[in-house]
Order: sequence, then structure tokens, then C-alpha cells
Amino acid sequence: MVNGFAISSSLGPGLVAFLPETSHHTLIPIAIWRPISYPIRIDPACILATANPPSGPPPQSCHLDPSPRTLLTDAMPTSPPPPAPDRKWWKSAVVYQIYPISFLDSNGDGLGDLRGILAKLDYLRDLGVDVLWLSPIYKSPLADMGYDISDYCDIDPRYGTLEDWDELCRGVHARGMKLMMDLVVNHTSDEHEWFLASKSSKSNPKRDWYIWRPPKFDAAGQRQPPNNWRSVFQGSAWEYDESTEEYYLHLYVAKQPDLNWDNPAVREAVWGLMRFWIERGCDGFRMDVINLISKADGLPDAPISDPEQEYQLASTLFANGPRAHEYIKEMHEKVLYKHDLITVGETPFTHDASQLAAYVLPANNELNMVFQFELMDLDAPLGVEHRPLEHREWSLKEFRAVVGRWQGFKREEGFWNATFIENHDHARAVSRFGNDSDEWRAVSAKMLAVLEVSLGGTQYVYQGQELGLRNFPRSWGVEEYKDVASQNYWNRVLEKRREEMRSRGEGEQDIDMSDVLDGFQRKARDHARVPMQWDATANAGFTDGTPWMRVNDDYETWNAAAQVDDENSVLGFWKRALRVRKTHEVLIYGDFADISSDHEQVFAYTRTLGNTTALVLLNFKETEVSFVLPSERGWSAFKLILQNYDGGLEDGRGIADRVLLRGFEGRIYVQS
Ligand code: GLC
Ligand code: CA
Repeated sequence: MVNGFAISSSLGPGLVAFLPETSHHTLIPIAIWRPISYPIRIDPACILATANPPSGPPPQSCHLDPSPRTLLTDAMPTSPPPPAPDRKWWKSAVVYQIYPISFLDSNGDGLGDLRGILAKLDYLRDLGVDVLWLSPIYKSPLADMGYDISDYCDIDPRYGTLEDWDELCRGVHARGMKLMMDLVVNHTSDEHEWFLASKSSKSNPKRDWYIWRPPKFDAAGQRQPPNNWRSVFQGSAWEYDESTEEYYLHLYVAKQPDLNWDNPAVREAVWGLMRFWIERGCDGFRMDVINLISKADGLPDAPISDPEQEYQLASTLFANGPRAHEYIKEMHEKVLYKHDLITVGETPFTHDASQLAAYVLPANNELNMVFQFELMDLDAPLGVEHRPLEHREWSLKEFRAVVGRWQGFKREEGFWNATFIENHDHARAVSRFGNDSDEWRAVSAKMLAVLEVSLGGTQYVYQGQELGLRNFPRSWGVEEYKDVASQNYWNRVLEKRREEMRSRGEGEQDIDMSDVLDGFQRKARDHARVPMQWDATANAGFTDGTPWMRVNDDYETWNAAAQVDDENSVLGFWKRALRVRKTHEVLIYGDFADISSDHEQVFAYTRTLGNTTALVLLNFKETEVSFVLPSERGWSAFKLILQNYDGGLEDGRGIADRVLLRGFEGRIYVQS
């Protein structure tokens, strides 16, 4: 046993299996030291190719949970699997992100809720979804739409009750799906009882649960924040508390105080709330800004990157800080390793891939995967300061470079991607990377679906993406932008322009904000947050009351009911595309190779797994284009399995070395 590798510690209570160093998959001695009352099934694909016997907690489990919840999914190979990569249920899963407040309102108050989600589970299952991820539904004053939690162990009454959540969880599991919760623990709401206690006095036992510092005083004796950090949502990252005469840190808005993770009691409290949800039946966590939990020692001033601004960009001092990995490893040891969960960390402000690798590489025992934002940042202005609400033209060359880099990144060490092109923090993909005009919208949304289903990594789909929903129009005024990030940005620019006008002695009525609104129309988070478009009835069938955000103008023609029985709709295409992905595991696990050779409008690549190769051709422009395939490959043996133009698939004949692609055409071929 000493010479073996542990392959799983969670085969069930009392079981450990070892794989002797020289053995093949069929020789797996299993040690049983407690009686068990259920059959054990070993998935050879779960064997971890680790070179050293593990120290500390064992690696993440294989899915041998005897409960009926276990998803032995399509990833289960029928023939002996290739040795790498290591297969897991969460790798082949399709995750659908729900933004609950905008999904479906069941009681007419204008806000989506849990019973609304329950009513649509069949829709989601029919789409081909395996895991639902709920953006936060905990108690919250909604200062940042629920990413400001005031009670982690209760549901906000606007969304329902814990009993509703239990019913939803049962409904999800009964359909063979899983439920993932949003874990927002870099910060709480300022209305959380932990913060209320912390704020109540300097001697309160919870004082040190948050990051409090005394003021600094400048040469003129004016009180100043402890350092010059700028909050992600504008202004100082510090808020002064009059009664205790200290500042607390908030990387986001002042109503989101940052927890002090250096305090072990805080970490224990987080493990406790994670266990609460796991015990209730949750199957995993999306971890909000999890790379911000450790800040630079001593909280030093950030370098002055913009001398005109009072507060400075400080992400290098608060992202991926000195103890971030230590804390996530502790989370793994204390909570994660005991369960077969899906875990994905949100890791913004990081483009250094090697920094992100550390969260994901299996040898590190941290998370399954992370959301990195290089593609999402592609159409923002370049420069030190990240300006997500402004638009920059991007090129396909840049797009390909980003995708290619991450597809190949540290594969031999087990790095695993999270594949997404939309979420609640970004505008709609068809408006950013396709063409959302009436003429091209459907076909370009489908082309982006071809891209998504043919990339390696766990697949994420954001609500409405499957319908080809687009940004709301430029004619809407700033009052329709409800997001605190949009509003703060608007106010800051407005204030700056007002001051400039005043200093020039001009009238304020002449302030021109049209360029800012142009940027918002293309980039604001609000576009992803308008109500889901279910049918052509009032308010798109989202609510019988007054929706909390205005419904997009196009709902009468662009809605789920209009698409659900139409195979040629964007929704019909997504269903087909997800089925194709699930039946061709080369699309999930295959090695990626870009064969576009610097083409200006075609992104072409292959994916290879064992003897199987898939070929993907994507035209990113409106015009027809002829694409020449590299000559040496014998393309005539490749068969078309997915295409986004009507008229069905070709008759199974192979392709020639030159392919004509229509505007925004996307195709997948396979050969084996
Ligand atoms: C994450 C969330 C975003 C939120 C922020 C602060 O980036 O996705 O919506 O505003 O964290 O919690
Ligand atoms: Ca409601």
C-alpha cells in the first residue's frame, strides 16, 4: 500500500482504493475498514494520475456517492478511455446561470423568484442543462443585486423561503440535474449581523472580522482614508464610521464591507455556511471574487497610475494576495474534499495565467476551475486602467489568440477551463461578438453557440443566451440602467464634466453624455439583467405585475415560446448543439490546435482525442469567405455534424480542401 497512489478517499465512508504504481486500470486493490451496504462502482476514468502519494487531504473524489443524486453522466466512457485527460462529471456538464430576479416572477411583485425557477425546470432539462447556478438568493438589501448578503443561511423573502429552496432542489435532482449556489464571502452586506456587531464598538469580539483602520491625517490636518485604494465601483475603498472613528475597507460599494480572512474565526464561519448548504443538498459553489480574500500585508498605498485621480487602482495589492491559496487550500481541507462538488472561482483582475493556474491545478487541491476574463475584457480600451463600460473595436486575431492560449494552457498538468461568453456582469454576446441586427442576429448567435460547444472546458450558458437575446436599444435613457456600477460611473463622469464646464464658465445644461451612453449601450451589465423573454404576452410573460427592469422591446418576436418548437430557432439550435457536444467527447476533452493561419475572418481549429479529430470552422463576418484548409490532413474523411444554416446537414460526404463559408457560418466536422 505504501507504494500505491490513493485514487479516491470518498468512495464512501470507510473505503479507500489504491492503484499500485505499475498496475493497469483493472488492478485496483480496495481497502474496506467499515461495513458498507451499497454496491461500489469504480470509474476507471476517475483515477488520478498523480506522481506522488498525497500528503494532507486526499484529492477530490470520484463520483461514487451511493445516493440517487449521483450523476453518472455522459462522461462515463463506454470503451476504455484514453489515459488523459482525467474525466469528471463536472467537466462534461452544461451549467446554466440563472439571474433569479429576472428569470420568472410567480407572484406578480415584478421580481423573479424561486417558484418561478421551479416552474421552468423542464424547459432547462430539455435544453440539455446538467447544473443550475443561481446568482445570490440569500437575504440582502440588494445594494449590489444580492452580491451583498445579510444572512447566508436564509432566502430573501423576495425570492421565497428555505422550503421553496428545498422544493427547487428536489425538483432539480428529480430531473437528474444539480444545483450550484453563489458563494459571496469576500464581503458581506453592511446589514449582516456580523458587521453590525463589528461596527458596534472597537472591543466587540467581531471587530476583527472586518478590516478596520484608523484614519490618516494630511499636512492640513484633514482626515484621510488609511490608504489610496480606489473601490472597484468608484470612490475610496474606505468608509469612515463616526461612532468608532475608524474606517472599514470595502473593495466594492460601501454597503459591501470586506471580511477579514486573516481571522481564523471568519474562515470557520465561512466553512460553516458552506456546510449548511451542502447538507441541504447543494452540489457546488460559484465563488464570487474569491481571489480577493487576501490583501497585501500592511495595506500599502497603490502606485499612482492616474495623477488626476484622488484614489488609485489597487488590484495588484488586493487580488491574489499572499495568503489566498493558503485559505482556499484550507477550504478544500475543511469542506470541499469530502464531497463531489462542482467548484468554480471567479477571479477577476488577473491576466497572468500562471497566477490563475495555481487555483485550478489538481495537484494543488483548491478549485475545479476559475472564470478568467481575458475574452470578456477584449472590447474594453487598452491601458492600465480597466474601463469595462467603454467600447473598443476588437480583432479576430486578438480573439483567436486569447481562446487559443487558454485552450492549451497547462493541459498536461490538468488545468481545466470554464467556457463562457456571457454572464450577469457583461452585455449580450451576440451584440458584442456577433451582429445583432435583424438580418444577422439568429445566425451569428448560432455561430457563437458553435464556438462555445466546440471549446474545451466546462460549458456555461447564461439565461437568455440560448434565445439569442441582445442588448437593449440605444434609444433607452440612462434611467433604464439600474446597476450600481453603471450609475456610479455615470455620476462620476457627469460630476467631472460639470466641474470642467463650471471652470470654463459654461452652463451645465450643455453637458454632453452621449458618448457615455454609447458605451453603456454596448457594454453595461444591465443588458444581461432585463427580464427573461418567455412569450409574447405583456412583459414577455415574466410577470403579471410591474417588472423591476424594463422588458426589452423585441420580446413579441424574440421569446422562448416562439422558439421552443422551432428546430431552426436559436433555442432549437442550442439544444442540438449541446447534444452534439455530449455525444462527441472530443469536443469536451480533445486537444486544441488553431489552423486559421492568420485569416482575417475565419477562426478554424481542430480538437483531437485519441483517434478522433473534430474540425471547427467559424466565419466571424457578414461576407462569404473561402477558406483553404491545411493540405496534409485528408479532410475528405470528415463528416459534418453541426452547422448553423438551414437546410440540414450535407449528405455525409467529406469536405474538400477549400470551404466556402456563408456570413457567420459555423460548422463542426468529425473524423474517427
Ligand atoms: C462579482 C459579481 C458581481 C458583483 C461583484 C461584487 O464580480 O459577479 O456581480 O458586483 O462580484 O460582489
Ligand atoms: Ca416574485
